[in-house]
Amino acid sequence: MTVEVRSARPAELTPIVDVLRSSGLGANVGQLLRYPLASPTGDVLVAVRDGEIVGGAAIAGFGRTGWIGAVGVAAHVRRRGVGRALTEACVARLHELGALTTLLFATAAGRPVYQRVGFEPEGAVHAWRDVAPPRGAPSGEGVRPLRDRDLAAVLALDAAATGEDRSPVFAQMNGAMTGLVIERGGRIAGSAVRSPWGLGPSVVATDREAGVALLSVLRRVPGAPLTVSLPDANTGAVRALRAWGFQPINEAMRMRLGPPPAFEPERVFGMYNLFWG
Ligand SMILES: CC(C)(COP(=O)(O)OP(=O)(O)OC[C@H]1O[C@@H](n2cnc3c(N)ncnc32)[C@H](O)[C@@H]1OP(=O)(O)O)[C@@H](O)C(=O)NCCC(=O)NCCS
Repeated sequence: MTVEVRSARPAELTPIVDVLRSSGLGANVGQLLRYPLASPTGDVLVAVRDGEIVGGAAIAGFGRTGWIGAVGVAAHVRRRGVGRALTEACVARLHELGALTTLLFATAAGRPVYQRVGFEPEGAVHAWRDVAPPRGAPSGEGVRPLRDRDLAAVLALDAAATGEDRSPVFAQMNGAMTGLVIERGGRIAGSAVRSPWGLGPSVVATDREAGVALLSVLRRVPGAPLTVSLPDANTGAVRALRAWGFQPINEAMRMRLGPPPAFEPERVFGMYNLFWG
């Protein structure tokens, strides 16, 4: 079976999204791909066999680190190496963009494929949904809306939590960031930023109290019930979510190829998505 893996052409995007949806990656996968398509350090890759689009994947480069997401292969061509070929092509593209470390969130189906390429498991993450109405007032002292002038402080908090330079994500928001920050003693101790590309807000904080305060306010924002994804290693946040009656709705394994970034999972209280975290 000869399979060609390369960057997707614009006309191929709709069929790629169809393949990714039918491979079980969820209804929102098209929305998620808008970031790698728009970002100068992102890309969407396609696997083509005999003129038929049989798989796709996406990358998001953040300088020394980069992420692979939305890897999907059509059911009728699975177990023939297409998943591996897509993964290896993504790793190679991220290397070209300067990434020393490649990261991803693996489903149970994807994990052995990535392991064969050399990825190591780093820890489980779960997505949680708020199913019980909040009782009482939030513990949100110091929480206020995010303003443009907070950007530098928010970027610094983000880098301290993730160990990565995710400024390309902020740049792509073009200053149209929405969210909250928590201020303590004139300093920003946490931020919650919504992006157009995922289900949940990215919530980072210097400590449990600040992160949980942001979550307690977020779950009272009117609209759809709050969904947050975060590392199991943030045990303080998981304890709070359980106490509030949140239910786990999805799980994945963070995996890494290359030297570890200075990632601090206990500072991560929410992730944009299960593509680039
Ligand atoms: C995960 C997924 C992308 C893997 O795609 P794939 O094309 O089947 O992947 P590969 O063919 O490279 O590897 C799958 C298995 O086939 C085996 N395989 C590869 N080539 C083979 C061949 N020629 N003959 C027999 N087996 C083969 C691999 O060793 C691997 O075995 P393992 O599962 O025991 O490790 C696919 O199952 C999928 O789309 N799943 C749903 C969406 C999903 O979960 N995506 C991952 C997001 S993180």
